[in-house]
Amino acid sequence: MIDKHSRKISYLRISVTDLCNLRCIYCMPPGGTELSMKEEILSFEEILKIIKHGVSLGVNKIRITGGEPLVRKGITSLIKEISAISGINDIALTTNGVYLKEYATALKKSGLSRLNISLDTMRKDRFSEITRGGNIVDVFDGVEAVLKAGFKGTKMNAVVMRGDNDDEIQDFVRYIMERDIELRFIELMASGWKDMVDEDRFMPTSEIMEMVREVGELVPDKQRIGGGPATIYRIKGALGSIGFISAVSKPFCKTCNRLRLTSDGKLRSCLLTGGEVDIKDILRSSNLDENEMQRKLTDAFLRVTDMKPVVHSGKNSAVMNRIGG
Ligand code: GTP
Ligand code: 5AD
Ligand code: SF4
Repeated sequence: MIDKHSRKISYLRISVTDLCNLRCIYCMPPGGTELSMKEEILSFEEILKIIKHGVSLGVNKIRITGGEPLVRKGITSLIKEISAISGINDIALTTNGVYLKEYATALKKSGLSRLNISLDTMRKDRFSEITRGGNIVDVFDGVEAVLKAGFKGTKMNAVVMRGDNDDEIQDFVRYIMERDIELRFIELMASGWKDMVDEDRFMPTSEIMEMVREVGELVPDKQRIGGGPATIYRIKGALGSIGFISAVSKPFCKTCNRLRLTSDGKLRSCLLTGGEVDIKDILRSSNLDENEMQRKLTDAFLRVTDMKPVVHSGKNSAVMNRIGG
């Protein structure tokens, strides 16, 4: 699949649930978001069908997201089936880390290639505030469990928010000095549920980098396999590395290779700028024979690919837990 702007699409991000065990302030309102009815959520069978179709059109990398993907029952068996699909050479999962202590070994066994763990603070009281009730000890334990289980290429995502956690930038850097983790500082993006850009909290990568440099020299590193949204550096003397995701100050849309599948079965062209096709509707239409179904699925993938904007609008038209960040 090649889009109108000559970008090759090879990466599918799949939100397997809109449920989450946390309520991060930039992602969800205090009471949570309106959740889909259970029957609106794609079954594993449907997800696998969509992936296989994507693979026939050039997808070779899958990321599982949520909500929190580890709250979906049977998630490791889904991963096992995905990793058995020939043509998939990278299957990763983005998680808040709370359940990793229990899941790390099973995830490794299921064939998962890599994990990205979200953590926006190193402090217990703040973690509880930012996530509205989470316990940071669970996440730290989870990170250690992942390293122990033998995962390589683990990433830690920290969304930087002025006034909330910008005073911890250097603590994060110190954390990866002795851990083989790629720490990524992420610029805060527009929040769908607030329908606004949070200008007071926004902190550009340039400023974040200045603070990192006070801990040690930053040396540009080679980009990772599959590109990805981060610009990567090494920091002198550290086991880990540091990536910067500047979706606001320097959109990486030019190299975007991804489509998204929402938990309720919409194929989506872009995180921030809309454009969706209801693929679940196709899968569930009983009047189609197999050939017609395949044709319609191909058409859905190609239509969404065509909808990809050349550059995002900066506004987020829907909530993250449905789209999967
Ligand atoms: P890998 O590079 O494969 O490890 O994954 P990733 O960085 O794409 O995934 P992850 O789920 O860890 O996302 C990291 C951050 O980048 C999150 O804040 C995402 O919301 C943001 N992000 C991911 N994909 C896009 C995208 O297509 N557009 C924008 N604007 N932001 C994105
Ligand atoms: N801005 C930046 N990153 C966000 N994420 C969720 N909402 C936002 C936002 N408004 C991040 C999470 C997670 C990833 C999947 O998306 O922190 O690391
Ligand atoms: Fe691609 Fe949209 Fe992300 Fe930009 S915001 S990089 S166009 S998915």
